[in-house]
Amino acid sequence: MRMKPYVYITRKLPEAVIKPLTQQFNVNMWEDKEEPVPKEVLLEEAKKADALLTMLPDVVDENVFSVGEKLKIVANMAVGYDNVDIEAATRYGIAVCNTPDVLTDATADLTFALLMASARRLEEAARFIKEDRWKNWNPYLLIGHDIHHKTIGILGMGKIGEAVAKRAAGFDMNILYHNRSRKPETEQQLGAKYVSFEELIEQSDFVVCLTPLTEETRNMITLSVFKKMKQSAIFVNASRGPVVNEQDLVEALKTGEIAGAGLDVFEKEPIRHNHPLLKLDNVVALPHIGSSTIETRTAMMKVCVDNIEAVLTGKPPITLVNKAWQNA
Ligand code: GLV
Ligand code: GLV
Repeated sequence: MRMKPYVYITRKLPEAVIKPLTQQFNVNMWEDKEEPVPKEVLLEEAKKADALLTMLPDVVDENVFSVGEKLKIVANMAVGYDNVDIEAATRYGIAVCNTPDVLTDATADLTFALLMASARRLEEAARFIKEDRWKNWNPYLLIGHDIHHKTIGILGMGKIGEAVAKRAAGFDMNILYHNRSRKPETEQQLGAKYVSFEELIEQSDFVVCLTPLTEETRNMITLSVFKKMKQSAIFVNASRGPVVNEQDLVEALKTGEIAGAGLDVFEKEPIRHNHPLLKLDNVVALPHIGSSTIETRTAMMKVCVDNIEAVLTGKPPITLVNKAWQNA
């Protein structure tokens, strides 16, 4: 009798969402809802698995592919895939899929919320009132920065960048962007203007980072870049922590090179509470929740499920990352 394909999922996902898999395949999940799967467990599972459904904190490297003799697909529940060694996966003939599109709007919403929270000091203000510190009206009480009619500079005009630009247009912002390729449609529809990296850094009131983490973008934002920003600038990062030199960011915030930062991502996640960044009042920090809405996370799970179902039943994957991959 032919063995049913085996699918391993590195986090506990709802039965209803993974039903298309459990109906056809043997499925096992890492049951812990808090802790990521330990590497040795992932390797043991990869040995047996035809498909892996992985999460952002899982390091899916060559070790996983080399033991995964039956492994055909890794479906990573994120749009970013810097936790997966794409080059090695391709060499081992393994399809890697991500979850683009379904998370675009939710992530853009959160990015814009972070921009607004930073500009208007929402976190400080919310804390202020709950700590019973509101004694009097004061013309400079928790004074912030305007958002409307200011200049937003978007680094990385992918789908999420475009969705952020759309929100910025609704706030009558002046929109600059820098990207590997130009986006004529976005320029036309939203009045976004393509500029060089330097121009964007120098002219923006809000520098919003949405670029994927690659060897090119790693450590792209350093102290010399912060020094070129306006002193009133607010830096927002909703892409990946290592795009920014975090020590330099702390220095830029402490010395007033920039006015504030809104961060959903960090060099090392989870960031600890005693990290110097978290001691600064002009930092709004969130625990990597860009796509974290019930609707969007469910949709992301479904995209992973659909990709695995497709590949294990001999159909092409739906959101393939490594385009060089060929179903052997
Ligand atoms: C989250 O950061 C993602 O890449 O989906
Ligand atoms: C990825 O980060 C995107 O902008 O689509």
